[in-house]
Amino acid sequence: MAQHIAVLRGWHPALALAELAALLPNHNPMASESNRLAILEGPLNLSEAFETLSVSSGCQAILLNGFIHNWQDDQSVLLEKIENYLQNNQRDGKMAVVPLRIEGKISQFSSSKIAGKIGSIMSEMGCQIDLSNPQHRFSLTIDGASSQIACGWMVGGDAGSDGVATRKATQRPFFKPVSLSPRLALLAVNLATGPIGQGPVIDAMTGTGGFIMEAAATNRQALGIDLSSEMVEGANQNLKWLLEQQKITESSAQIVRGDATNIEASIDKSWVGEVQGFVLDPPYGRNSQGSLSHDDLLTKTLTSAHRVASSDANLVMIVPINSMPAQINSPLADNSQVELLHGDWDSLQQLMKLSGWVIKNRWVEHVHGSLNRLVIHSEYVPLD
Ligand SMILES: C[S@@+](CC[C@H](N)C(=O)[O-])C[C@H]1O[C@@H](n2cnc3c(N)ncnc32)[C@H](O)[C@@H]1O
Repeated sequence: MAQHIAVLRGWHPALALAELAALLPNHNPMASESNRLAILEGPLNLSEAFETLSVSSGCQAILLNGFIHNWQDDQSVLLEKIENYLQNNQRDGKMAVVPLRIEGKISQFSSSKIAGKIGSIMSEMGCQIDLSNPQHRFSLTIDGASSQIACGWMVGGDAGSDGVATRKATQRPFFKPVSLSPRLALLAVNLATGPIGQGPVIDAMTGTGGFIMEAAATNRQALGIDLSSEMVEGANQNLKWLLEQQKITESSAQIVRGDATNIEASIDKSWVGEVQGFVLDPPYGRNSQGSLSHDDLLTKTLTSAHRVASSDANLVMIVPINSMPAQINSPLADNSQVELLHGDWDSLQQLMKLSGWVIKNRWVEHVHGSLNRLVIHSEYVPLD
């Protein structure tokens, strides 16, 4: 079976792998011995790989039909594998070898020397080498942490695909300290909504509109709702700004004033039962609006989302937690304890379950100083 290698960004490889599983459900993304390299199965063509990279937050590159070599100071074995690969995956046009170091160095491994040898193999095969303007890039991706080397024709991996990683919430016209980073917001939208072309995504507590901007940038149907007129006005300003920045002329994304506990009142009837993804970043206890307690507000919001969700919907919720050791290479174990800033984990889990959302996975994301966030991925289950 065809196999491809996804190169994951360093800020949170475990979240990046989950995002990839949501975006490419038919390719069963799997972890490898390297935290930053994932294996995809099944046929994947250039345009599918390109589309995935253009919307993904955590995936840096895809090596089509690529392979991973476990480096054991065995240059000749690696070069033989590469030669076989090039013979079996021939490309017409100008090409270059691109070394990409993702996690430190491997001792005794000179990427420039090996790249030169691969260039010689290509020349002997009659290929045209052009380092400045290649049509095809052969990647030599080196993971020093695990001594794994991934090879293959690379899609992405250049500075241009780093868009979301370089954007900052502070650059927007309307910024508040609650604004999520664009890369986390995009990842959550992808995790909740899955492949492009699925049903709409809703952020019922949209604040400055971070999730909805990312949904619009990835050409999704999206609706943001907030109780505060100031937030709705500011989020709309942000959305307009982003669409101009990204030169997006057509977007159905909207941000309206409404109540998260009554989502039905804010949506078109045609969306009822069709909403594919929900992203939620609830207010922190003391900022919470209205007379409801934090738990009541959450229960009513999750129940309201459930009423309009499609039967295979996903919901991603982000909540602040007290400091705990960074854990970027795997989800939290089922029995891991976390200290929420508001309330306790067992009650939150119970409250979600009673509202029709069962937890699939949890990850810790370090924000700054002692502030961490818990990213909770849940899926729709029918309620009796
Ligand atoms: C933590 S902020 C969201 C921040 C957002 N993710 C961002 O990137 O800017 C929570 C938001 O929930 C809104 N909110 C609180 N109660 C609400 C309700 N019942 N319905 C809709 N929005 C509500 C608040 O006005 C606030 O803007």
